[in-house]
Amino acid sequence: MNAGSITTTTTQAAADAPGRVNLLGEHTDYNDGFVMPVAIVQRTSVRMRRNGTQAFNLHAEELGRAVTFSFDAPPEEHFASYVFGCLALVRGQGAEVPGLDIEVASEVPMGVGLSSSAALEVATLRCLRTLLALPIDDVQIAQLAQRAEIEYAHVRCGIMDQMASSLAATDRALLIDTRSLERRDVPLPAGSAVLVLDSGIARTLAGSGYNQRRGECEEAARLLGVASLRDVQHLQAIEGLPEPMRRRARHVFTENERVLSALGCSGAEEFGRLMNASHASLRDDYEVSTPELDQLVAMLQAQPGVFGARLTGAGFGGACVALCRSDAVKQVADAVLAQYGGAGHSGKQLVPAA
Ligand code: GLA
Repeated sequence: MNAGSITTTTTQAAADAPGRVNLLGEHTDYNDGFVMPVAIVQRTSVRMRRNGTQAFNLHAEELGRAVTFSFDAPPEEHFASYVFGCLALVRGQGAEVPGLDIEVASEVPMGVGLSSSAALEVATLRCLRTLLALPIDDVQIAQLAQRAEIEYAHVRCGIMDQMASSLAATDRALLIDTRSLERRDVPLPAGSAVLVLDSGIARTLAGSGYNQRRGECEEAARLLGVASLRDVQHLQAIEGLPEPMRRRARHVFTENERVLSALGCSGAEEFGRLMNASHASLRDDYEVSTPELDQLVAMLQAQPGVFGARLTGAGFGGACVALCRSDAVKQVADAVLAQYGGAGHSGKQLVPAA
């Protein structure tokens, strides 16, 4: 892309983008594997207006105040670094980025594994695309958004969240091959609906634990002599790896298989069984669950109206997702939240938005 030659007199623009919940395929994206997220109803919106200066004035409820920064004086606030990263990357692509007043408003729950940061990045880039008439498509938006997160917010994430925010719909899942970025729409199993509950446990270890898992996968791939764990052909190949690499690689291998099985699955029961198996693998092999997430998932799985449930997102706290009978969502949510509350925790319904 070379947007530098485009001149435009548009003075303001607005755009938004959704959060996502991942149904299957956790910790597979940075191993070039398969994921199956769905967009959620909650969105983040961004408005921009040229202000005739070289400065950016960013206001967001999340910040509680306006933050001013420029390309010469980047912001110190972590939240603002996502926006700054998008501005800097677009400028790096050759576009002339003027000073802007930027207003952010978000309904996407933060810090629970529903990709509030990807929604912010994608909404910011969509807004810049409109304002500056940038010739970039939705996949390029996702790629720039991922780079903003890695290079400016310093999280070595995969591309699932940004692809989901940029391309997924709320009424069907999106199978993504994170190596080729090929995609396929996958209808939700007939008669089912998605329920997401927050465990109320903050994802304190998410940053360090996430990067550690990623490093272990890279080490496993190196020991196996493959470019990434996506290239492992048989489970047997993994057996000789030292721990914890063996279990990390086994999770990635079996999780990729589960996503591909979900594609041709017979219905909600089978899809639910794949979700339950995903949780067990994330708990035992990948070790990104917590006692509270295990408890919440077990309570969900025990409900007659639930086909399957698991932690969703990076883990270490945050939310759980369940595939429910579509006529049982409210009843399941009420029963499980009461039970979880009785166990001394404070959960919350996130999807459907209460
Ligand atoms: C976070 C990352 C994603 C993905 C998930 C785990 O959401 O941003 O890239 O790795 O964790 O599946």
